[in-house]
Amino acid sequence: MNHPPPGSIDDTVGLLASADYVAERGLATAVFLALRMGRPLFLEGEAGVGKTEIAKVLAQTLGRRLVRLQCYEGLDIASAVYEWNYTRQMIEIRLAEAEGVKSREGLSQDIFSERFLIRRPLLQALEGDLGAAPVLLIDELDRTDEPFEAYLLEVLSDFQVTIPEIGTIKAQQPPIVVITSNRTREIHDAVKRRCLYHWVDYPSAERELDIVRRKVPGAPERLSREVVAFVQRLRAMDLFKLPGVAETIDWSKALVSLDQVALDPHLVDDTLGALLKYQDDIARVKGSEAARILSEVKAEVG
Ligand SMILES: Nc1ncnc2c1ncn2[C@@H]1O[C@H](COP(=O)(O)OP(=O)(O)OP(=O)(O)O)[C@@H](O)[C@H]1O
Ligand SMILES: [Mg+2]
Repeated sequence: MNHPPPGSIDDTVGLLASADYVAERGLATAVFLALRMGRPLFLEGEAGVGKTEIAKVLAQTLGRRLVRLQCYEGLDIASAVYEWNYTRQMIEIRLAEAEGVKSREGLSQDIFSERFLIRRPLLQALEGDLGAAPVLLIDELDRTDEPFEAYLLEVLSDFQVTIPEIGTIKAQQPPIVVITSNRTREIHDAVKRRCLYHWVDYPSAERELDIVRRKVPGAPERLSREVVAFVQRLRAMDLFKLPGVAETIDWSKALVSLDQVALDPHLVDDTLGALLKYQDDIARVKGSEAARILSEVKAEVG
């Protein structure tokens, strides 16, 4: 079902929350404005802070199809936009030969028609669905190379692509575009200029607790509070890779699977792998440091 876009920032917060996405006001404002102004939303932030999820939740709550373009090094137009179905074209040529079709002109027109076109995500997003443009998620744009970025810029300016053999295909209604980056490199200014930008930060303790309550409903309240307080303290440390919201959720789920109702030092040591993914970080936290943090957490939550 096609849901109308939110009418205010508060509406936007509510819409996202209806799919269990807890957004702070800055993010909700960026989402609201992107929808209202028809501009792409550019989200940067650390890993696991909910960038990709925004696009999924928007598609879900607005009743749009989600079209996802996962970026990687070497991504090209054949994988991102369209490609000719060579195998089917070959078969068509053989059949035409067998039937004794003589007109080369007619045949080449035929095999370069839409029937033989493989639509990749960008083209799918432009062609859209009747009456409801999809949500186009361009995920982890920093992983592609600059020529592709330049091409993307063209697509985002006019919401159209040109296929030499067919002509120009233009979106009747532009898709809702969400671009994410983990900032392994800077994205070109020209791309950013077309978008509304928002840096997705780690959530406050209050918001993170709300997220855990929604995403791990089986977790005892006391456990969730301790988990969140612990993670928030870890994020103040100088670690190689800080835990994201995804890790907080994972850790909570792991502890629930172990039937735990509260943290204790051994439990923390044994389950740190759900939270920290680098041996150096685990070695730093495990043992006395974890025990120290935990005693602060117990004092705070208790
Ligand atoms: N504000 C939030 N409200 C609800 N769930 C959240 C929120 N932020 C993150 N999550 C949850 O955390 C997990 C990770 O989110 P997501 O995959 O969107 O992160 P990401 O920023 O795209 O990370 P990466 O850079 O690693 O791709 C998801 O399961 C998502 O549901
Ligand atoms: Mg992501």
